Amino acid sequence: MKIITSIAEMKRVSGGLKKYSRSVSFIPTMGKLHEGHIKLIEEGKKYGEAIVSIFVNPMQFAPDEDYDSYPRDYERDIEILKNLGIKYLFYPTADIVENSATFVINPEYSDRLCGLFRTDHFRGVLTIVMKLFCIITPNFAFFGLKDYQQYVLIKKAAEDFFLDVKVIPVKTVREKCGLAMSSRNAYFNDYDRGIAGNFYKALKETVDLFNAGEKLGENLVFFAIKKLIKNGFKVDYVKITDKDLNIKEQSVRNGDIMLSAVEFKGVRLIDNIFFETLLKK
Ligand code: PAJ
Repeated sequence: MKIITSIAEMKRVSGGLKKYSRSVSFIPTMGKLHEGHIKLIEEGKKYGEAIVSIFVNPMQFAPDEDYDSYPRDYERDIEILKNLGIKYLFYPTADIVENSATFVINPEYSDRLCGLFRTDHFRGVLTIVMKLFCIITPNFAFFGLKDYQQYVLIKKAAEDFFLDVKVIPVKTVREKCGLAMSSRNAYFNDYDRGIAGNFYKALKETVDLFNAGEKLGENLVFFAIKKLIKNGFKVDYVKITDKDLNIKEQSVRNGDIMLSAVEFKGVRLIDNIFFETLLKK
């Protein structure tokens, strides 16, 4: 596997692949790879030569967040990527963000859900992803549905800037207990990780209530919050939106999505679930 740190070299390699008629799939990550990332990579491989990036992006962490302690495991990540048959890892240095004076923002879609709790987070995400898109110019790029707001923002940015990249969503991969895989799950011991599975369980039970006939958004949200608090979660928010992140408080329909962020044992977790009747499954 070629580990590329230089921006110029990454442009050359990606440009070369496309010139010789190989589609380029791109999977950006912040490392400490887990089954969720692996699913994205496996998906990417189906569409073309998969280029993975690892960069813990300082721009998307607030000063009081966990940038310094964010889990990093370079050696293990390299082993995982080699075993997946990845030929190119982009591992940029801090140059990619340093001295940057231009930022990508979408105030309208950032001004809700996680954006209300993490000021400038999505500015950091959009800016780094657009930089990576400019360097790699992928044909396809893969993002997890676990970070639904992030996925929608990136898809919109790619469309708004007329990029020739198809942004492809990938279903959330979960631990056995239901907890969505996340690099930050490394902060938990085994016991707490199991208990954290109650987060997704509360979301699932809310969908059960929807399927049993409750369609009023306010009631569904209230039900979920009550469950979460009872299970020891500190709730940042529970909201229901349509697929374009428009908040819904009244009538909830199939295809709408419930999104939530909570804190458990000092770790911030996010997750979401789609409302679907059993008939649709
Ligand atoms: P990171 O948290 O490392 O996640 C990289 C990609 O993996 C994202 O698209 C994320 O949605 C996806 N992912 C994470 N957990 C997942 C799971 N359990 N199932 C499926 N996909 C999952 O998200 C970021 O990094 C950064 O914000 C980034 C986009 C790389 C920009 O810095």
